[in-house]
Amino acid sequence: MKKIRTAVIGCGNISVMHSVSILKQSNVELVSVCDIKQDRAQIAAKKYGCKFYLDYKEMIDKEALDAIHICTPHYLHPVMAEYALTHDLDVLCEKPLAIQLEDALRLETLAKTVNHHLMVSFQSRFNPGSLLIKEAIASNSLGAIISGRVMVTWKRDDEYYSKSDWKGTWDKEGGGVVIAQAIHSLDLLNWFVDSPLKKVEASLHNRCHNIIQVDDSAEGLIQYQNGVNACFFAINYYGYDAPIEIEILCEKGIAKIVGEKATIKYNDGRVCIADRNPNELFEFGNVKQYWGVGHMKEITHFYEAISNKEEIKNSCSEVMITQKLVCAIYESGKTNKPIYF
Ligand SMILES: NC(=O)c1ccc[n+]([C@@H]2O[C@H](COP(=O)([O-])OP(=O)(O)OC[C@H]3O[C@@H](n4cnc5c(N)ncnc54)[C@H](O)[C@@H]3O)[C@@H](O)[C@H]2O)c1
Repeated sequence: MKKIRTAVIGCGNISVMHSVSILKQSNVELVSVCDIKQDRAQIAAKKYGCKFYLDYKEMIDKEALDAIHICTPHYLHPVMAEYALTHDLDVLCEKPLAIQLEDALRLETLAKTVNHHLMVSFQSRFNPGSLLIKEAIASNSLGAIISGRVMVTWKRDDEYYSKSDWKGTWDKEGGGVVIAQAIHSLDLLNWFVDSPLKKVEASLHNRCHNIIQVDDSAEGLIQYQNGVNACFFAINYYGYDAPIEIEILCEKGIAKIVGEKATIKYNDGRVCIADRNPNELFEFGNVKQYWGVGHMKEITHFYEAISNKEEIKNSCSEVMITQKLVCAIYESGKTNKPIYF
């Protein structure tokens, strides 16, 4: 059977998770990688045994690709996704799909028009702990959700920002701790609550980072149309990447994620636990441990869905609520006003 021809745009930090995961797929060929920084492109091409390009358009035009992974700065996601979709490719784009909601909505329409997958990388949804809670809520064994809370206290110090030519800027990253770090936990909250947004009211600050323009602190209220009130707190000036915490209070119990481990305590005394499966570890090299194996699972799913012509999980439509939430947090934080949907 003909292999699916794919490529990765952007050879920075996260690209390793994509490239290594692609190489593990038996029905997929990593044809090429691309980066405007020649040294990065060359090193990656040598490591993964593929070609390299410095211009993604040239790569797409020449390589008869079937799919592409976008691992570039946030402001480039819409223009690259658009080029790929209009050149007949399925797209797996790193989060966020866009900085501006209008761009994300335009891409959603385009993906439907050209009938191609546009998946966004929210790999935490593939973790066993996330799935345990999702299934308990979806099967109604926890009863209705009453409220939720999200806590993200991570470390992104000045050294981290000083190494990047786009992180920490409004125009290229689109924000700070919310759009870059807390977005995964906010996405899990949205996925669990599974209701359209009603109102978002947030405050943003930069309290500890002189060298960046964007938020390093954020907190707020997220109100859903099903009546659930949730709160979030996110900072990236903590001393280390503390395990994220998400708690969902339900009629029949409390579900909690700490890091990747989920614990559900039912009011009747039952306890269910799910955590990272140690047998599922893959060697990605020197990368952040909390990235886990979610990328491997989502990339395996992406290619299975393409091969089997199936619906895709984490499609841009499915995760659009998180795009809306993040944009509303920024709008509310910048204007000091609540945002109503
Ligand atoms: N899902 C996750 O857990 C996770 C974790 C980290 C980063 N990310 C996301 O991955 C993306 C990349 O983040 P990163 O930390 O790897 O950034 P990075 O800066 O390390 O890598 C980005 C790469 O894109 C390259 N690039 C810039 N413009 C380009 C262009 N026009 N054509 C080709 N290449 C270009 C840069 O030279 C750089 O090598 C972001 O969207 C980020 O939010 C996701």
